[in-house]
Amino acid sequence: TGAVSYDPGFVNTAATSSAITYLDGDEGILRYRGYPIEELAEHSSFLEVSYLLIYGNLPTAAELDKFDQRIRRHTMLHEDLKGFFGGFPRDAHPMPVLSSAVSALSTFYQDSLDPFDDEQVEMATIRLMAKLPVLAAYAHKKSIGQPMLYPDNSMGLVENFLRLSFGLPAEPYEMDPIVVKALDLLLILHADHEQNCSTSTVRMVGSANANMFASVSAGINALFGPLHGGANEAVLNMLRDIQASGEPVEKFVERVKNKEAGVKLMGFGHRVYKNYDPRAKIVKNMAHEILAKLGGNDELLAIAMRLEEVALTDEYFISRRLYPNVDFYTGLIYKAMGFPEKMFTVLFAIGRLPGWIAQWREMMKDPETKIGRPRQLYIGEPERMYPSR
Ligand code: CMC
Repeated sequence: TGAVSYDPGFVNTAATSSAITYLDGDEGILRYRGYPIEELAEHSSFLEVSYLLIYGNLPTAAELDKFDQRIRRHTMLHEDLKGFFGGFPRDAHPMPVLSSAVSALSTFYQDSLDPFDDEQVEMATIRLMAKLPVLAAYAHKKSIGQPMLYPDNSMGLVENFLRLSFGLPAEPYEMDPIVVKALDLLLILHADHEQNCSTSTVRMVGSANANMFASVSAGINALFGPLHGGANEAVLNMLRDIQASGEPVEKFVERVKNKEAGVKLMGFGHRVYKNYDPRAKIVKNMAHEILAKLGGNDELLAIAMRLEEVALTDEYFISRRLYPNVDFYTGLIYKAMGFPEKMFTVLFAIGRLPGWIAQWREMMKDPETKIGRPRQLYIGEPERMYPSR
């Protein structure tokens, strides 16, 4: 069978070529389809970035409007799908609820499952973009026991999601433009990140020609892990634990350095970024601004800033080139917006969706795509005989 190379965690192995996202970890560069993340963060919108990632170029005004209108027309869910939410325990985490609901889309929308039919792929794309934020908001409503509202298609994607998350049937929902703008920006920052764990999962599942809903559902489950998207929730829990313990930040950092079981500086470190995470830079600046406007938890922000300061001057972190990643400050912002901790990773999923879709579509069109099937080095028993009894 020839030599097999051994690369746990695919640290050095490219599993695909891709024209979507460029990432230079040493220089701290991130570009979607060639556009620097800093420029997109300043000038673009999440909807426009989604179009860019999925279709390859920035849309004209007419193209963006059409994309927007199509998504608005597909926000409604099949009524029976709403009943689905009743089957989970009240305290269910919204991430597995979301992945289950997205998986269930392939039972409700069976006319958009063929990965090689362009029209069906387009339909699945629009349906996912339109319905995933609705499912995400319903997962939240389910967890707090509030009624689920119908989407209002006079609103754009982000506004609709906020209203569905926080609105009540009995009173009008007052939209805070600061929150809309901040959430839109955070979604842009999360929209793609080349072959991260969840995206690789989407590709792996899709490489078996699984449909887009099934593939994205698998990606959501990968994102749930605390080393990946779950880190934003884990950061806030860490900050709270430090606050509650009353111990100085330095003491916590010592525990991290001593590698006490399960203690890591969450929101720090990255497989590819070894200089700084350009997304974290944008989020940090924004955290100060938005927390000042929305009145976030100053004490937790102070702990986060002190943690960063201590870590960035400590030999342990310097020698390992560990810097804050995108998740370090996002949780504080989400909290200030009114989202409970359990929703943080769901927000990441909404942001990452266009990236997953773009990567899945690219793979399906790539003539070099093969089913994902890594090799292994067998380290078990040699052949042994079944004992005669
Ligand atoms: N706190 C303490 N030590 C760390 C950390 C951390 N956050 N991250 C890495 N290290 C140490 C690690 O123990 C190892 O030390 P040693 O060489 O002594 O064994 C060294 O740094 C290299 O780390 P690694 O685990 O080999 O790096 P990796 O590329 O396999 O893992 C990572 C990358 C992101 C999983 C890891 O840095 C980590 O667990 N960070 C905390 C979780 C987190 O914030 N994840 C979010 C990532 S960014 C957005 C996303 O993907 O969601």
